Amino acid sequence: MPVKDWEFKESFMIHLIYGDITKFEGDAIVNAANSSLLGGGGVDGAIHRAAGPKLLEECRTLGGCNPGEAKITKGYNLKARYVIHTVGPIWRGGNSNEAETLASCYRRSLELARQYGIQSIAFPNISTGIYGFPKEQAARIAIDTVKKDLYENGELEVYFYCFDPENYQLYSELLA
Ligand code: AR6
Repeated sequence: MPVKDWEFKESFMIHLIYGDITKFEGDAIVNAANSSLLGGGGVDGAIHRAAGPKLLEECRTLGGCNPGEAKITKGYNLKARYVIHTVGPIWRGGNSNEAETLASCYRRSLELARQYGIQSIAFPNISTGIYGFPKEQAARIAIDTVKKDLYENGELEVYFYCFDPENYQLYSELLA
């Protein structure tokens, strides 16, 4: 088992919230979108409803997004100034690079956040709804990837928003 330096760091600027990510009042929220970036159900639908129709207008100009990548727009009617749209993997049993693609969503979102001077960012539990990624594995990947990134590239305020009790319980245990 390789030693992970970041596991020895005592504290990270990571917060856990049980609630609706569209209410976040920081700099950016991350959307668990699909490759079209033209809206959908779940958190994507909630974000588009809360941001208003101008968000879809801007999304139409982006030319979609590949799984594991991220693109940024303004936040429009949201309190957050920006929305970072990332496309998680669809769970296909675990042998289709799902874990690496999911980790990449978190890394690429944080990379964009840094480029835009964002200091606080909220993540939903990407891929664990409609896309069917097993929740515990997804939570471990999300937390590990974010901690490693903050350790290597500098601290940002990160908020994990959980919207269902199972994810909230998992994150509570893993972040304890
Ligand atoms: N705030 C925070 N988290 C939420 C909210 C909310 N308002 N609503 C749902 N969640 P999902 P995916 C949680 O299905 O699995 C869309 O149609 C939810 O409980 O939104 O990545 C896209 O267009 C779950 O834990 O995203 C894609 O087609 C998490 O958000 C597809 O769904 C992710 O669930 C993406 O599927």
